[in-house]
Amino acid sequence: MTFNRKIKIAASILSADFANFGHEIRAVESQGADWIHIDVMDGHFVPNLTFGPPAVAAFRKHVTTMMDVHLMIAPVDPYIAAFANAGTDILTTHFEACPHIHRTLQAIRDAGMKAGLALNPGTPTCVASNLLDQLDLICVMTVNPGYSGQKYINLGPKINELRSMIGDRPIHLEVDGGIDEKTAPIVAREGADVLVSGSAIFHGGTVDHPEVYGENIRVIRSAAESALQ
Ligand code: DX5
Ligand code: ZN
Repeated sequence: MTFNRKIKIAASILSADFANFGHEIRAVESQGADWIHIDVMDGHFVPNLTFGPPAVAAFRKHVTTMMDVHLMIAPVDPYIAAFANAGTDILTTHFEACPHIHRTLQAIRDAGMKAGLALNPGTPTCVASNLLDQLDLICVMTVNPGYSGQKYINLGPKINELRSMIGDRPIHLEVDGGIDEKTAPIVAREGADVLVSGSAIFHGGTVDHPEVYGENIRVIRSAAESALQ
């Protein structure tokens, strides 16, 4: 896929029906989601527990866009090969979870995936500055990771600093947490190009009424795009 900075909506299936992932993935993709975002949590780095590599491999069969896997686990290195084998396109790890982050990012690329770095709300942007050559994506967490449906933390200046740091490099700037039609314009204006959204996309819809997902995606996308005009 060629690199572009157009606004992309990544649907987080953490807000989908957990008994129906295949249908849910196909429904949000057919309704306009650009990427599928999968939140992997270990009950250790974050308080919640979600999916491991076998579940991610099962999701892969339904994903026709980009499978964007957000690891909220520690340690990371022992699981890199398993997520590559599961068909991950982009594997994002938390700065705070990796004592040897440079090595971990290199290992993600060596395993054939794109490498992402996620920063918790309290982590400064400078930690990314020596890693830019190792990165395909930087994810600014706009909630403390662990749950969907939390309130957006305004980190506009942080997003903007990273946008300047990235410059012309082919690195996506993703935001994750509390993104809806009200917050999408703020993050887009500061330079984010990948907007992760869970509850604001799945709210009100079901696989039998996926048009609600489509309407939610359109509203978020147009709010973001209108901030760029
Ligand atoms: C939070 C996750 C997010 C979450 C976003 O730890 O990383 O991807 O699913 O959900 P919303 O959009 O509901 O904040
Ligand atoms: Zn996430």
